Amino acid sequence: MVSVAVLGAAGGIGQPLLLLLKLTPGIARLNLYDIVNVPGVATDIAHINTNTKVEYFIGQSQLHAALQNIDIVVISAGIARKPGMTRDDLFNINASIIYELTEAIAKSCPQAHIAIITNPVNSLVPIVAQVLGKNYNPQRLYGVTTLDSVRASRFVRDIRPQIDATELQVPVIGGHSGNTIVPLLSLARPKLDLSAKDIEELVNRIQYGGDEIVKAKEGAGSATLSMAYAAAKFIASLVEAFKGISKVEYALVPLAADPQGAQYFRRLGAGTLEFFAVPIQLGPDGIQRIVPLEAQPSLFELKAIDIAARELQDNITKGTTYKS
Ligand code: NAD
Ligand code: LMR
Repeated sequence: MVSVAVLGAAGGIGQPLLLLLKLTPGIARLNLYDIVNVPGVATDIAHINTNTKVEYFIGQSQLHAALQNIDIVVISAGIARKPGMTRDDLFNINASIIYELTEAIAKSCPQAHIAIITNPVNSLVPIVAQVLGKNYNPQRLYGVTTLDSVRASRFVRDIRPQIDATELQVPVIGGHSGNTIVPLLSLARPKLDLSAKDIEELVNRIQYGGDEIVKAKEGAGSATLSMAYAAAKFIASLVEAFKGISKVEYALVPLAADPQGAQYFRRLGAGTLEFFAVPIQLGPDGIQRIVPLEAQPSLFELKAIDIAARELQDNITKGTTYKS
């Protein structure tokens, strides 16, 4: 049975994510950590009659206690976008939060799997890797990009209502912001029949899907419910993988997690990047394998990978040079 800590538990993502995790089989314990409002959220969630034990921890003085004997740490602590902002605009505040939380993880549960939801994912995952130092295990670090593939399959259904969105798999690689998000519609399963115009419009909608929500929420934040669904899906796969039921998910991961598997993506356009969103086969120890694509992407997609790689390099450098 698995113990999960959610840092940022009282937030817009934290709350619905906890609801879904409380319903996820195989999670024995949920530790909820936040700097505000967490007693109420925890007390509420704890009344749901599943077997998962819920405990809360509030404020920095309780952070180490929140991380004791934890297998998976999910981080959604930090600020979210308002209209007119990019994810990169969140960097200064969120980098300092992630830095401090990772220092605590390195001391209290250095072997834990770490799933980063907080933005900008492209720059914060490299910070976590740096801060972990000697405790860094590339097979256990994930930038959660699941929402991009969740969106991709739903947006396809918006223009092809005969398709079952829950069955459609669209690979989305690269990173998690604008041009770094590279949907590979040509490799969707089942296969799609899309015009060049459909593809162009869908790719743009997937790349800027986050902005759709930020705009609609009019200053009240960004994706929370769809994000909670996406993160719960990712964590459920990880919990299953711990039991030996191997799952493939997409996440922004250190390519060092599987140098051999990474070669395929390096040749495809990731070049010398240290982090890239790729399909990962999850196992009991985290990333078991970086899985090559089933076929070569289209020319349009290969160009998009090149553009993504250039932008992603800047995002990664911003993370790796933070505080250095
Ligand atoms: P929110 O403001 O509703 O919640 C954030 C929570 O973090 C709050 O409860 C706050 O008290 C807490 N917090 C702040 N500083 C903290 C600290 N030092 N320690 C612990 N908790 C702290 O925001 P949200 O809507 O839940 O979004 C959280 C983050 O997730 C944002 O950065 C957002 O951009 C990102 N996000 C990522 C994705 C993705 O696909 N990866 C999708 C949606 C949102
Ligand atoms: C998203 O893709 O919805 C998130 O990254 C939140 C955002 O800022 O758009």
